[in-house]
Amino acid sequence: MDVKISDAVKYIGVDDKTIDLFESQYVVPEGVSYNSYLILDEKVALMDTVDARCMDEWENKLTQALGGRTPDYLVISHLEPDHAGSIGRVLELFPDITLVGNAKTFAMLPQFFAVAPEIKMHTVAEGDTLSLGVHTLSFFMAPMVHWPEVMVTYESSEKILFSADGFGKFGALDAEDAEGWACEARRYYFNIVGKYGAPVQALLKKAATLDIQTICPLHGPILNENLGYYIGLYDTWSSYKPENTGVLVAYASIHGNTAKVAEKFAELLRARGVEKVVVSDLAREDMAEVIEDAFRYDRMVVAGASYDGGVFPCMQDFLHHLQAKAYQNRTVGVIENGSWAPCAAKTMKEILETMKNVSVVEPTVTIRSTMKDADLASLEALADAIAGA
Ligand code: FEO
Repeated sequence: MDVKISDAVKYIGVDDKTIDLFESQYVVPEGVSYNSYLILDEKVALMDTVDARCMDEWENKLTQALGGRTPDYLVISHLEPDHAGSIGRVLELFPDITLVGNAKTFAMLPQFFAVAPEIKMHTVAEGDTLSLGVHTLSFFMAPMVHWPEVMVTYESSEKILFSADGFGKFGALDAEDAEGWACEARRYYFNIVGKYGAPVQALLKKAATLDIQTICPLHGPILNENLGYYIGLYDTWSSYKPENTGVLVAYASIHGNTAKVAEKFAELLRARGVEKVVVSDLAREDMAEVIEDAFRYDRMVVAGASYDGGVFPCMQDFLHHLQAKAYQNRTVGVIENGSWAPCAAKTMKEILETMKNVSVVEPTVTIRSTMKDADLASLEALADAIAGA
């Protein structure tokens, strides 16, 4: 897709609409873009490459944008193969190019590519600048937004922040985005960067000192309007604050009986005026979407069937994902189902108790095989507790 940034700054990224799973784990029904940029000045700087899956298309765009010129620099924001996958090709095409990275970049680079001794490398540190002519690049380290070597680059003449994975989003650039930027940006953020809230906060503090008019991320659209909206969401997400008031009811049901309990519980919450209740089937829905919702809302209820002395595996998997992504600062209710030895609640609570500032409210509800009228009192009591939390 053609994307206009400015006369001197060209978008040369590519859409990948055939990848089955991004990072071999995330469904991307609308694809994903690998963004790469070219700055044409007295010196020419290439800003990252793309996944090797799309290298040929990218090379064509690069060649066209260069118009016969040769890039002087390749700035490497991030070594993950979805961006660095074509560095080897750059070195074949332009053996005199200078790679620009930080000490961690160059320590890790040979793990991915054979780097010949004659390859030129320019190591930058926090705040260093590189003049291209009219354009000047300043480099800011952003370790663990998403990998340790990540850095972002600010171009001062056009006030552009090249933000690496920050402000990235699933979805090809030419895909319809009916639900707006935040939906797939949120799923991307919590599943990929979610564990690293503190490093994102540190980056936002650095970004606050810069006059930014355009954000050029490594995935998703270039942002050049209403930047406060995007930065505000990133501040909320990375500080582990809920974005919205509401309850996620996530269930793991084997034969449908726990699902009925979850739906009934959602009804009880709605009857109590809870404005937003989302019910998710962990066995069938996109886990990444449910994780996104867990972070989005201030409360969560987990309803799980007992299984093999623990909890039905999709619930265990879900809670372990939340644990890995540093889920915190939320109120949680627990419902278990068991036919002969209910043990799901104990397993779920053991995982929840490892999380920072997650308060499990009482009562814990135990259903024996199927929901009965006698279960209503305990469900109502839990609904009162969650609605009032
Ligand atoms: Fe888009 Fe962490 O790579």
